[in-house]
Amino acid sequence: MFPDNFLWGGAIAGAQSEGAVHTDGKGLSMADLLPSGPDRFKCMLNGHYALSHYQPDTTYYPSHQGIDFYHHYAEDIAQLAAMGAKVFRFSITWSRIFPEGDEREPNEAGLAFYADVIACCRKYNIEPLVTIDHFDTPVGLIKKYGGWRSREMITLYLRLCRVLFEQFRGQVKYWITFNEMNMILHLPFVGGGLSFAPGENRTAISYQAAHYQLVASAKAVALAHEIDSQNMVGGMLAAGDVYPYSCDPDDVWLALKKNREQYFFSDVQVRGRYPRYILQSLAAQGITLDITEADREALRTTVDYMSLSYYASRCVSADPSVSAHKTKGNAFDTVKNPYLKTSEWGWQIDPEGFRITLNTLYDRYQLPLFVVENGLGAVDELTVDNQVHDDYRIAYHDAHIRAMAQAIADGVEILGYTVWGCIDIVSASTGQMSKRYGVVYVDLDNDGHGTGRRIRKDSFYWYQRVIAANGLKSLATPE
Ligand code: BG6
Repeated sequence: MFPDNFLWGGAIAGAQSEGAVHTDGKGLSMADLLPSGPDRFKCMLNGHYALSHYQPDTTYYPSHQGIDFYHHYAEDIAQLAAMGAKVFRFSITWSRIFPEGDEREPNEAGLAFYADVIACCRKYNIEPLVTIDHFDTPVGLIKKYGGWRSREMITLYLRLCRVLFEQFRGQVKYWITFNEMNMILHLPFVGGGLSFAPGENRTAISYQAAHYQLVASAKAVALAHEIDSQNMVGGMLAAGDVYPYSCDPDDVWLALKKNREQYFFSDVQVRGRYPRYILQSLAAQGITLDITEADREALRTTVDYMSLSYYASRCVSADPSVSAHKTKGNAFDTVKNPYLKTSEWGWQIDPEGFRITLNTLYDRYQLPLFVVENGLGAVDELTVDNQVHDDYRIAYHDAHIRAMAQAIADGVEILGYTVWGCIDIVSASTGQMSKRYGVVYVDLDNDGHGTGRRIRKDSFYWYQRVIAANGLKSLATPE
């Protein structure tokens, strides 16, 4: 069912795990400005506010401590090895390598940390899957250039890429240029370090920044191939098909338009050019982007695979009385789908939607997919005898792995599957530790208090069996 070389594993991101915010010369990243508590979302929405309210002496910033992966990586990777993981996705924190973002020379101590992480993976025969930028614009670049609103960012990002590709040649094969690139339209500060002055055209600036990222990504693919022809470089989407609430053609049209908001990014990355629908739509809004002939040429270098996160499907309705009933979902509010249950944080649980999304993407591109995030954020209870009975998380993954098996049987090519937050990490959206995804529990609370001890959950042993069997033994013949 699953190919023999299928890459089962886990995934985390630097700002949600590493901590050690000032260690070994690291500079500040966007995520380091996001506090815990109610102010966090306001900061995510408004970079000016985040910068001007940064008070590390009096406020808790969860990324500053994370789960202290910086000092625990060996133990954490050993846990993954014990689970049988074949791949480990982590991200580079840009400001560890270039603390302000625009230095000429990299910070050797930062590079040494990732060299150690990669060597540790290799020791256990775990394939490293490296995200180059996971919501991680250095604060220095936000202050100096306004983040990705500036074309200069392309050069600086490529400087980072060159250092990584040269330093880790032969040791890292799988790369992702940007985490969830489509997030820049929904959370522009998070996705691109963008802030807006009153009266500025938010849509125009966000699409311009997206264009610079797309060019940077395409040039990174070319550079990666030039430095090592074995490199495989992927784009990445926060995926999840948007359903029409009903078969009313107005709902169906709205769903198609919403889907284009995500597929615009992968359309460019896979097809190597802008789709006509986006050019028409921007023109209709009076928006002209700075796109040069050299950019168009650069975009012709396409990705080797498309990676995706999948947590939930979405739903839209053209009827205001229906669309008023919203629920949450990874920065995308969505109309509540009456057929689906939700997580404790309101994210809709839809394994069949996973099969649909995988098929949609593969139909569109015929390019291998890599599922690099999937999971359930839930509150876990640690029992007095140090166990976590997370049958709800097992049920979630069980259903999604079945759906993925069905997609493979449908003909979809999938390279691998990494459980999001395989070791509990800080939630990106809420900053909470209590929103846990891991199969390994980390003893820390929302204020960063606790021993930091790692404890295997029931899901750890379950996932270990899944990996050993290369899938679920009990999988029924897919329909
Ligand atoms: C994805 C991000 O959008 O969703 C991750 O790539 C994030 O960084 C994940 O952690 C889950 O979201 P959250 O907000 O529950 O942590």
